[in-house]
Amino acid sequence: MVTRRAYITHMGSYLPNRILTNADLEKIVDTSDEWIVSRTGMRERRIAHEGEFTSDMGYQAAKKCLENAQIDPNEVDLIIVATITPDYLFPSTACMIQELLGASRAAAFDIQAACSGFLYALGTAKSFIESGIYNKILVIGSEKLSSIVDYEDRSTCVLFGDGAAACLVQEGGSGLRIDAFELGADGHQNHLLILPGGGCRKPTSLETLKNRDHFLKMDGRGIFKHAVRRMEQSMVETIEKANLTCEEIDWLVPHQANIRIIDSLTKRCGIDDSKVIKTVEKYGNTSASSIGIGLDEMIEKNLIKEGDNLLLLAFGAGLTWGSMVLKMVGAK
Ligand code: COA
Repeated sequence: MVTRRAYITHMGSYLPNRILTNADLEKIVDTSDEWIVSRTGMRERRIAHEGEFTSDMGYQAAKKCLENAQIDPNEVDLIIVATITPDYLFPSTACMIQELLGASRAAAFDIQAACSGFLYALGTAKSFIESGIYNKILVIGSEKLSSIVDYEDRSTCVLFGDGAAACLVQEGGSGLRIDAFELGADGHQNHLLILPGGGCRKPTSLETLKNRDHFLKMDGRGIFKHAVRRMEQSMVETIEKANLTCEEIDWLVPHQANIRIIDSLTKRCGIDDSKVIKTVEKYGNTSASSIGIGLDEMIEKNLIKEGDNLLLLAFGAGLTWGSMVLKMVGAK
């Protein structure tokens, strides 16, 4: 039996050109550049324009990805979109992007695993490819977090930004081979980061509007504590699954929630700081898009060399987490 292997062969990303700086935030809420930089490492984030939605940003990233691959949208078998800020509760944002791309052959669905969404989607794509069901899958992370952030709540509004990333996952070829992954969840802690309103439990009403339940609520300290512990456990498990050791990891591509979380994982992984991808300063936390944006920047800068092992790490609401090992095979 021939073993099928899933590869990320091409990527694309999109960031709105509207920038929200710490100085801008100082004018909106009681905060300071010093507080934001020292607690989070963030200096700016991108904000989608009026009339620019999650599907539009995801489409832009996917279009670039397919152009890089020189693939007609009709060759795509499946579109998976990871997002917590879909255009609508339904239909899925994946269906909207399918229409924008003209990828009429593709099946399409959304995955909701918050900031771990990109890894949940990539793991799903790998499974579809290696089981022989599909050959070409577009995985997209796209978020318009500015639509669910409360710009009157200083403890959350400084943290989030908008943006999108897409990758083409194919059977065989060359690129980043998906060698191993691990996904996890802890529903007991669902209250730590939540969008309370708008679902069937709290449908939109005057009451939910008054309580600002249409904006995300977060227990930052609670999240922080779980994030480091869960990602560390996940990292160990996945490196082992890939038959590697920590020393053999060449690049760490973590979710970009907070520079202190990233630094703590860097230490625990024992990897040199120069081998850790950090975009948090420029883009803040873009949830399901952050890892894809980091990966696309690495590819653009031609940082990844033949045989390099990459460790992707994510954590988010749910709680959810995940890790994945990729190996560069057949680099040009
Ligand atoms: N500007 C100034 N002060 C602020 C502030 C802001 N933007 N936000 C909160 N503060 C204040 C608080 O009110 C608190 O004041 P107090 O001591 O007088 O009560 C103080 O700063 C400390 O708040 P705390 O929440 O303990 O800060 P922290 O060091 O835990 O940092 C986070 C807050 C949110 C940056 C941090 O907890 C974090 O990053 N958590 C993880 C978040 C995350 O990863 N979320 C996404 C999951 S993917």
